[in-house]
Amino acid sequence: MIPSPSPFHVLGIETSCDETSVGIVTDGKTVLANVIASQADLHARYGGVVPEVASRKHVERMLPVLQEALEEAHLSLHEIHALAVTNRPGLLGALLVGVSATKALAYSLKIPVVGVHHLEGHLYSNFLAAPELATQFPLLILIVSGGHTQIMRMEGHGSYTLLGQTRDDAAGEAFDKGARLLGLPYPGGPNIARLAQEGDPTRVPFPRALLGKNLEFSFSGLKTAIRHFLEHDQGKTPLADIAASYEAAIVDVLVRKLRYAAQREGIKTICVAGGVAANQKLQECMRKMAEQEGLTLIAPHPTLCTDNAAMIATAGYFALQHRPPDPLSFDTFATEMLAMPSEIEES
Ligand code: KG4
Ligand code: ZN
Repeated sequence: MIPSPSPFHVLGIETSCDETSVGIVTDGKTVLANVIASQADLHARYGGVVPEVASRKHVERMLPVLQEALEEAHLSLHEIHALAVTNRPGLLGALLVGVSATKALAYSLKIPVVGVHHLEGHLYSNFLAAPELATQFPLLILIVSGGHTQIMRMEGHGSYTLLGQTRDDAAGEAFDKGARLLGLPYPGGPNIARLAQEGDPTRVPFPRALLGKNLEFSFSGLKTAIRHFLEHDQGKTPLADIAASYEAAIVDVLVRKLRYAAQREGIKTICVAGGVAANQKLQECMRKMAEQEGLTLIAPHPTLCTDNAAMIATAGYFALQHRPPDPLSFDTFATEMLAMPSEIEES
């Protein structure tokens, strides 16, 4: 079922971690508003997100952010046709703020609502970057965020197979933990990337955990490697060189695994999603690899890579094409897989 009428406005709400965001997207492809109130500065002093602090800030910011999004889109609440909200996975208290607000809106406006998996939202940011993807299945998608590192095969809307994921830390976690050891503030990814621009990525030979011919990842060894390096180096190597080498080690593994996945699966269109996808070095290396392999690469704009609600609204729009809206009693989950793994290949 194609949501009708056209234009069909979906309002999305995202509060799974430390961004309060409301986005309004028309017909699953045109972003009318994408307001993001980040709490990063607030959590920086603790070196990471404090769940209870995040929930309280979401409560304070929910209505002002909603108001700002409607103003930006030049729409009133009564012109919204459907609602979409991240209801899994994430910090439970934080998720509940967005879910409760969305349920109240759905109840009072009497419009359909869908609960969206956060990773599905990330993946749909690619559909905003390239609306033609909506008819170009199968797609191969690398999801790299603070909590996940996965390679997914997407057969159609709502149809995913998990081809491989990390055994331990996520790529974003590796950036954040590495940054902390380098004395850089949270969130670590953008700060390492900034410092790395002036550094030599070949200076420190950090290990690449390739784990054989499969699509699994492991980043915990890299974190140990940088800790040992810093202990022994005693400040001799410029921080920019260490940051650039560390970034290169993460990017290198991600790109090599994605290349192997494309070859193995015979898929010609590759996408990248999640906060780490905002990394310019990763986008540049993926672009080179795609050129060499004759693949089409889709990469969302950096503001659509990190947590935002336009991606949730887009995922909600397409969800309404293949499943009924959720009843107002729908649940919220701190953890849930988006897709089940295919058979794990042995190295
Ligand atoms: O998707 P996201 O905003 O939130 C989660 O769903 O986790 O991802 C946040 C992660 C953090 O680990 C952050 O350090 C990383 O994305 N990140 C980056 C960059 N921007 C954000 N990592 C590397 N380079 C960046 N430019
Ligand atoms: Zn995210």
